[in-house]
Amino acid sequence: MRIGDLPKAVGQSVTVRGWVMTTRSSGKIGFLVLRDGTGYLQAVLPKAELPESVWESFKQLTQEASVAVTGAARADARAPGGVELTLTGLELLGPSLDFPITPKEHGTTFLFEHRHLWLRSRRQVAVMRVRHEAIQAMRDFFYQRGFVLVDTPLLTGAIGESAGNLFETDYFDLGKAYLAQTGQLYLEAAAAALGKVYCFGPTFRAEKSKTRRHLTEFWMVEPEVAWYDSQDNMRLQEDFVSHVVGRCLDRRKEDLKELERDTAPLERVTPPFHRISYTDALKKLEGLGASVEWGKDIGGDEETMLANSFEKPVLVYNYPKKAKAFYMKENPADPRTVLNNDCLAPEGYGEIIGGSQREDDHDRLLARIRQERLPEDAYGWYLDLRKYGTFVHSGFGLGVERTVAWICGMPHVREAIAFPRQMHRLRP
Ligand code: 4AD
Ligand code: MG
Repeated sequence: MRIGDLPKAVGQSVTVRGWVMTTRSSGKIGFLVLRDGTGYLQAVLPKAELPESVWESFKQLTQEASVAVTGAARADARAPGGVELTLTGLELLGPSLDFPITPKEHGTTFLFEHRHLWLRSRRQVAVMRVRHEAIQAMRDFFYQRGFVLVDTPLLTGAIGESAGNLFETDYFDLGKAYLAQTGQLYLEAAAAALGKVYCFGPTFRAEKSKTRRHLTEFWMVEPEVAWYDSQDNMRLQEDFVSHVVGRCLDRRKEDLKELERDTAPLERVTPPFHRISYTDALKKLEGLGASVEWGKDIGGDEETMLANSFEKPVLVYNYPKKAKAFYMKENPADPRTVLNNDCLAPEGYGEIIGGSQREDDHDRLLARIRQERLPEDAYGWYLDLRKYGTFVHSGFGLGVERTVAWICGMPHVREAIAFPRQMHRLRP
């Protein structure tokens, strides 16, 4: 049986396989704590009632040895999971000598070098469960709203975001291919076919920054909606983020507790979110003692300051055109700006979403592609979408690791993915 299913087996004799976390003994009675990924189990060994061999095996158990234990499941409110096992049998399946991660403190470098083993620890298991729940909530949200999942290519022939952080690879006789920085451009084509679509996949950015918010490989979920303008897009974002956070609060209470996450700030994540224009955001930052020159993007530190002054997420809209990607629609009311927005998470987490209404005018888009000196021939197909029945459309991308780090209350994105890829980390 799996530990998580034991409450259904109270009163029965069961066998459970798992890994040893701790053992202790008073001489007459032994305690063994096991984990199997579905939960934690305390097993009790009354020495006098056990065959000598079982007690001997118990005494030799070490951290992370794999075992099969057999015993009677008893309800016990004090035990983790509410069930305790009184052992009658114990079999060592795989010994574990000198497990490198002990209950003492280890430095982060050491832990990441041992990420394959560190993943077994309580905190890491809790984070992975929250991540799993968040992703399922994202997929359910779109499914319930009639979005169609479209898987976009990871090997691409056109730059999606900025030329500065592309991973390149040789591609047969066709020259260079780039690892996808976004699925967006392909998704726009799919939106004209299916109306409401989303993609969900790994994205790659050769980020040379070693910040707590950047990975070189991260997961992004991107919806794209025909006939949505920028306002509709922002409403979709606040519904989406609120749904995901609410679901984790509902179903991952135990894990958030394990992570000692104060959930009060998460309970406040409900629509509507705050909205502030880029220009007003700069004024607000000025008041907080940080000055950003109009026209520059808002950097990580300033985002943190800004987000800290709101008690729930804030949507910052209409950034300067020159600070943002070529595909964003020019703001007719102020052509120096675009119809875009970022969503900043509170508690200093900063940008979790970047989104925009897309430029749907063929000639304006072509002019932007030229201005940015992007290779025009690579965007022929993308421009076609504006030639054959152009349409108002909008979408956004939410970074999974940043969102999970925020929900879990962890300062760094690297713990929000099982095997993080960073500039200086490719193993394990
Ligand atoms: O703001 P970004 O660059 O937007 C896009 O890629 C658009 N094409 C999305 C769209 O409109 N369909 O990235 C979106 C989000 C960011 O807000 C952030 O959460 C995450 O992706 N992100 C990263 N996460 C971890 N490491 C990195 N290096 C990231 N770069 C972006
Ligand atoms: Mg962005």
